[in-house]
Amino acid sequence: MSDLSSQQSLLERIPLVRQELEADLSRVSDADSLEAFRLKHMVRKGTLQTLVDELRTVPKEDKPAVGKSLNELRTFAESAFEELQERHKKTVVHAQVDATLPARGQHAGSIHPITQTLDKIIDIFASMGFTVADGPEVEDDAHNFGKLNFAPDHPARDMQDTFFVDHPTRNDLLLRTHTSSVQVRVMESTQPPIRCIMPGKVYRNETVSTRALAEFFQVEGLYIDKGVSMADLKGTIMAFARKFYDADAQFRFRTSYFPFTEPSAEVDMSCFLCKGAGCRVCKFSGWLEICGCGMVHPQVLTNCGIDPDVYSGFAFGFGVERTLMMLTGIDDIRLLYQNDLRVLKQF
Ligand code: DAH
Repeated sequence: MSDLSSQQSLLERIPLVRQELEADLSRVSDADSLEAFRLKHMVRKGTLQTLVDELRTVPKEDKPAVGKSLNELRTFAESAFEELQERHKKTVVHAQVDATLPARGQHAGSIHPITQTLDKIIDIFASMGFTVADGPEVEDDAHNFGKLNFAPDHPARDMQDTFFVDHPTRNDLLLRTHTSSVQVRVMESTQPPIRCIMPGKVYRNETVSTRALAEFFQVEGLYIDKGVSMADLKGTIMAFARKFYDADAQFRFRTSYFPFTEPSAEVDMSCFLCKGAGCRVCKFSGWLEICGCGMVHPQVLTNCGIDPDVYSGFAFGFGVERTLMMLTGIDDIRLLYQNDLRVLKQF
């Protein structure tokens, strides 16, 4: 009899529990109240599982009916719970993500304008058959000055211009002041024909200003073979400048002096911006100075183990930052080293 009554009471209690569940469900308004519902009804010791556990006490013949009723109750509770879970999960996500905010940008890096410029210079000379050579930044006096024909008392050797390197056993080490030192190394190690450019960092004891830096890049060029003349020098520099700056440029070669070239020249190109009329980039002169150059001095060839009676050649050199400033109209060289994204993004 007691079995019967307990069976009836379980069967009777099921609709009452369902009413209770429905009432509780209707009060669920957020993730917290849903969690309270779960803890009350859905866990191991919660309302539903307690009823299921009671099923064991129901007589065998009544189990199908009670079990069916319990299953319906459980299915109802689970699907109502899952639905609410879905709804309140979305509420939480909405609260964290404001879909109206602008998307976060992807901050991809880019190639520095100086590197871009060097790459472009190398590409153009490579298309004319020049290879790229490299040399040390800590040099000795012989490669930076001596073999390039600088007299022992030449002012460029002065402490004011050159950074000397403290060394326990040597007193002739310095930070190279120009890439012309690499010319010497290439000529010492290679017999002509030589046709290469030498890009690299150079160092000078200069006060940093809008026009000057204490370290900067140069590109050096060297072409040595039998019968190389000033005409080859002019043709090469003009071909480069027409590709790099301006296809319609005019040129003038002004005589100049460098200890390692004879004759020496500086090259001016008509301003690519104003075509010679005068503007801010060319400082209203109509001309831009693009490089120093000359025929390699016979004494320099001899110093480097090349016979000047058989071979001749030309060399040139220019600063990369100044080149970039001319191209872009940047009027403060320091902007190229401050890594200000507002500047870098423009390249
Ligand atoms: N070395 C020179 C400088 O630093 C630039 C230069 C001039 C290089 C004439 C050369 C050259 O090879 O022929 O100002």
